[in-house]
Amino acid sequence: MNFPRGRELVLGVGAGIAAYKSADLLRRLQDRGFLVTVVPTPNSLNFVGKATWEALSGRKAQSELWENVSDVPHVSLGDKANLILVAPATADLIARIAHGRADDLLTNTILSTTAPIVIVPAMHPKMWLNPATVKNVQTLRDRGVFVMDPAIGRLTGSDSGVGRFPDSSAIIDFVEESYGYCADLLGARVLVTAGGTREAIDPVRFIGNRSSGKQGWAIANQAAMRGAQVTLVLGPNSLPKIEGIETVEIESAAEMRDEILARFDDIDVLVMSAAVADARPVSVSDEKIKKEMLGSLLLEENQDLLAEFAAKKRTNQVIAGFAAETESNHEALVSAAKSKLARKGADLIYVNDVSSGKVFGSDMTSGAIITREGKIIPIEEVSKEMLADTLLDQIRERVSHG
Ligand code: CTP
Repeated sequence: MNFPRGRELVLGVGAGIAAYKSADLLRRLQDRGFLVTVVPTPNSLNFVGKATWEALSGRKAQSELWENVSDVPHVSLGDKANLILVAPATADLIARIAHGRADDLLTNTILSTTAPIVIVPAMHPKMWLNPATVKNVQTLRDRGVFVMDPAIGRLTGSDSGVGRFPDSSAIIDFVEESYGYCADLLGARVLVTAGGTREAIDPVRFIGNRSSGKQGWAIANQAAMRGAQVTLVLGPNSLPKIEGIETVEIESAAEMRDEILARFDDIDVLVMSAAVADARPVSVSDEKIKKEMLGSLLLEENQDLLAEFAAKKRTNQVIAGFAAETESNHEALVSAAKSKLARKGADLIYVNDVSSGKVFGSDMTSGAIITREGKIIPIEEVSKEMLADTLLDQIRERVSHG
């Protein structure tokens, strides 16, 4: 099954003693890039209170339908979620979900969502093996819900058997496997530049370009989804904020350079997708320049940031550049990109085919990824999100072998 991939996760907590272990699970999920909203059942609050969930998640933890009614939480939570994980799930909670009950916020959310659902049961073996529970679990599995088998081992009392809440790492493996999610950039520090820069002429005018920043935004978003620690250095834009990453807004190429420089020693990956203005006025006038004088405006070339940082890079850093070329045939496009890659000293480059006004502002992109070893990956009319993932696949290979 192919899931839509996203980072928004609802963690449903049932009223089992294993609820306390879910506090660790929550942390591990956050480490892997998930953005978690906790929905504890009302009875589970006897084991772990809302204060714990709110402090750890940094978000409101709601149990009942009757709070924040104007937000319609039983629908909005399910709509926003890319994945629902119920851990621990008691026999009672499993029964309620299997029967389509909606008697608290969690079961309402589960009933109204179209997101994939993963359930992690934890209970006494007698309850797990009871024919009622066995039937309910089968019903859920038949409906496409992923139900993990509980671990075997010591239980709350003196006895042991099947029903133990699995370790956080085993749960995360199960979640990622069922969900098709992979935090393969876990812990990598990635800096992405995006958008165009503006080079001031006077207080009202600037030199700029048409870059929307969408491609770099998609790379930052996908890298965060894959567990990377991301900084997005972004020119003027109208893009939504990406939660859980550092966004630094800049205007000029010089400001962009300062922000990269301040972080360069600490990053593993630099993706220069920004359309850095090639030139800036030699001097910026404090007053608006009269139009008759604009013809005598003197420009000087901006420093090439990609080339500068590629020259400074450590062997275990990966630098990706972008090129926008207008050659209409593939061979000419690739050959222009190859010489740009060599000239700038990057590890790989994505060359956009921008012939006849394509790409700028669009959600689609075509071109090729070229590596310094000469590997060519042709890209034909894909979403910028898809290109981001393909590019990150190439980057990941280099990070792990660096
Ligand atoms: N770039 C940069 N600093 C600049 C100009 C460009 O870091 N002052 C980076 C861009 O972020 C991109 C790459 O260089 O990753 C290619 O940019 P492009 O404008 O295609 O290359 P130019 O060097 O400007 O070459 P030309 O315009 O002559 O093709």
